Amino acid sequence: MSSYCHLVRTVVSLCVLSHVVMVSGQTCRTVTTFNAGLTPRIDDYPSRLKRQPAALLKEDADVICVQEYWFENDLAHMLKAVSSKYAYHFSPLHTSISYLPTFSRKRIFPETACDPADAAYFYLRVLPCALFRGCVPLFLQSLQEGLSCAAAKCGVVFKTFSEDCLSCISLTATSLSALIDACKPVTNGYNNRLNGPGLALLSKQEILSAEYRDFFPGRELTLQRGFIEAEIKDLGTVVCSHFSAIFPYYFEYNLDFANYVQQQQAEMAVIQSRFQSRDHILLADFNTGPQVETASSEDRVLKGEAPQNFQMWIAGGYNFTYLEDDGRCTFCRDNPVVDSNIHPNNVIDYVMFKGHYTAQKAKRTLDESPPLSDHYGVRQTLCIGKKDGILRKPYNIGRNSKKN
Ligand SMILES: *[C@@H]1O[C@H](CO)[C@@H](O)[C@H](O)[C@H]1NC(C)=O
Repeated sequence: MSSYCHLVRTVVSLCVLSHVVMVSGQTCRTVTTFNAGLTPRIDDYPSRLKRQPAALLKEDADVICVQEYWFENDLAHMLKAVSSKYAYHFSPLHTSISYLPTFSRKRIFPETACDPADAAYFYLRVLPCALFRGCVPLFLQSLQEGLSCAAAKCGVVFKTFSEDCLSCISLTATSLSALIDACKPVTNGYNNRLNGPGLALLSKQEILSAEYRDFFPGRELTLQRGFIEAEIKDLGTVVCSHFSAIFPYYFEYNLDFANYVQQQQAEMAVIQSRFQSRDHILLADFNTGPQVETASSEDRVLKGEAPQNFQMWIAGGYNFTYLEDDGRCTFCRDNPVVDSNIHPNNVIDYVMFKGHYTAQKAKRTLDESPPLSDHYGVRQTLCIGKKDGILRKPYNIGRNSKKN
């Protein structure tokens, strides 16, 4: 880099930004998406939580979109550890860019997903309804099946229940007796709000603007879904999201879809229409991926997840190169924290982009052992700038007048 800089400096004097990697006149940035899986329902949660900050520092990407940082305390713990490198960050709990109030705010009453009144309502109304309507035996078989029964039969009760409290229970319950434990205040001063959509965006470059939006504004969801939309200096629009998982049972009580395949399609449509005419980078757990029947290795043979939905990303004009460049599962049967009995190999985490970017090879990342999550990450360097003699973007700095 330094000799290259020296060379360029004789022509232009803009090579002072040593972190800007230039490839034939383009500005390149590395982006990573990673589903952190931080719920007690996934094995090894405390140890994985503890090991993640070091891994995110080592990842050393310009921008990282993480999913499933469900709890304020987990998010704050991670941000504190990584903000020396990723000075800019944003989540639905942030009150402004790089400002999560946890760090300084003193609270008189603890703020948790369920407050004492929610806990009372849960035991007096929600649980009895589930019991009388015959859902409790289903809970014993599968949480999702029980939730689906309760959402269908106790929807009225759910609608007057705290959205965060119900989300938290759905995300963290490990048994009938520990339904609400992770979600309610333990002692005075115990603050641990729910980061309902689980999202957070980290960046080395300045985040010029950022906001969180629900996919279905005004509706309450059992699992809250939406996206962070950010403008990042020298990169442009970055969208960080987590699309609905395709659970076999549908347990939303305030949406009109028949199943999660339909809901995920509606979420995709929100993104595709909102960003239709803008260059953007989409970092997400897409919860959809193609079937791949034959491949060079076992971990590249993919079962496919709602493959018809994946086709809609391709039809929508999105580009991604991970499947050709690497192609190994990001959600893998042989990951020790994945239940191999019910989960086949799939690639559901992607860096997608639409517009004037050129991409270097994508690869799997954050796939160390012991695992950090039930997912592995995906990492890719994207370049913005000159491709065919036309300057597309103002960021094309450090470029002399020579042709490529
Ligand atoms: C997708 O991106 C790759 C890498 O930049 C590029 O080679 C390819 O032409 C792009 N495909 C489409 C359809 O734009």
